[in-house]
Amino acid sequence: MVTFKGYEPVIEKVYAHKQEHVFEYWNSLLESEKKELLDDLAGIDYDLIKQVYAHTHDGRITDFKPAPFIKLPSTASEHEKFRQAHKAGEAHIRAGKVAAFLVAGGQGSRLGYDGPKGKFPAGPVSGKTLFHFHSEKIRASQKKYGTVIPFFIMTSRDNHHETETFFREQSYFGLDPVNVHFFTQNMIPSLDLKGKLILSEKNRIFMNPDGHGGSLTALRTSGALATMKHKGIETISYFQVDNPLVKIIDPVFTGFHILESADVSSKALKKAGPDEKTGVFVTFGSGSTGIVEYSDLTEEQAAMKGADGELFFSAANPAIHLFSLKFIENLTGSQGPSLPYHTAKKKIPAIINGVPAEINGYKYEKFVFDALPLSKKNILLETPREEEFAPVKNTSGPDSIDTAHELMQGLFRKWILSRGIKIPPSVRLIEISPEFALCAEDIPADLEIPSMEKVFLE
Ligand code: UD1
Repeated sequence: MVTFKGYEPVIEKVYAHKQEHVFEYWNSLLESEKKELLDDLAGIDYDLIKQVYAHTHDGRITDFKPAPFIKLPSTASEHEKFRQAHKAGEAHIRAGKVAAFLVAGGQGSRLGYDGPKGKFPAGPVSGKTLFHFHSEKIRASQKKYGTVIPFFIMTSRDNHHETETFFREQSYFGLDPVNVHFFTQNMIPSLDLKGKLILSEKNRIFMNPDGHGGSLTALRTSGALATMKHKGIETISYFQVDNPLVKIIDPVFTGFHILESADVSSKALKKAGPDEKTGVFVTFGSGSTGIVEYSDLTEEQAAMKGADGELFFSAANPAIHLFSLKFIENLTGSQGPSLPYHTAKKKIPAIINGVPAEINGYKYEKFVFDALPLSKKNILLETPREEEFAPVKNTSGPDSIDTAHELMQGLFRKWILSRGIKIPPSVRLIEISPEFALCAEDIPADLEIPSMEKVFLE
């Protein structure tokens, strides 16, 4: 049996859980490398991985139908409801009760970008990064509503330092650093097909961030939830790093959420087509609302049409949610239920017979939207996709920077034209900085667009 002073209980646990193969290269390791391996092993919850492995092959839930949602207003009374929501939401925002919460712990592997995804340049004219866009929106909302909007950013072990450093180097994009809070999510080991830990190096265990669903626990364990409470926050505006068009602070959405005293509210948009990689909102057999991920829909379900000729599962998830702080407090308390882990079979880098290789294994992640069915009251609000969804996920093709730029062009032009302002034909690219306008109504009606190829309104 392997020994190392001070780590006896860790080593015992490894043997007790029959994971001692992780010591295969022990005798060839330096003392510092042995310590690194033991530190990795000390951070693992062995009962948890036993449990998640046991659920690896759990079947999909099949009993669900499309969830109802609040549609965009068309009648006078619906418009009135939206106006009321706007009023209530704006008051809540002005009272400093809303915090912005960005999940940025993912690995961005599909984008093939080395580093935190938020550092990816997304501005069609300015080349501004995603982090810049989000921070500027918060700054502009603070100004517009005369309030402070604390900004919480969840990172993971691999990108925490680089994210924090980037914000510091960029002077927090003009935000007051006392209102910008970073914290990391947990890691969970991947397992091989037999449920064994995987050595990614001779002295390191392969682990991945525990999914954006891990954000709810991390909010509590990091102390972020307590900080929010201390600052008087009641509503948490959750968004993903990859969407430069997200309305982080939205009075209408906030209004519906608080008027209905919802635990969670989510925006829904019309699914672009059966192949779009977005989850769909459903009502489960139990009557609760939730999301079925695109990868869990069969091809038939994804393509099914309703009587109106539209997709049957048509309400897509742009991953924009509002959580009541109380709900997260209850959910993450010692008595609260924990979110389930989803399994993905993946190629995982490993050391086999002393050399680097790739093996098949299971990666486990929690999904934040599994909190929806655990809520007592939730709201789904339709949002026009062209106003709020331009995800940057792939290097090319759908959901790439090219499609995001196109969508931004469409939206910015629509805003300008809706104000009766002409765009000279010479203008090929146009970008509106959030500081200049957060929505069409913020654009001054007497604005003149210069006759240039690229226009940046800031
Ligand atoms: C996600 C949603 C999908 C939705 C789509 C909209 C899931 C499983 N699916 O898909 O329903 O329609 O967005 O664009 O969420 N993240 C972390 N930590 C992690 C993993 C991810 O912070 O451990 C963050 C990422 O940094 C990113 C966000 O979560 O901001 C989304 O992650 P990603 O894996 O890209 O989700 P998608 O598969 O694109």
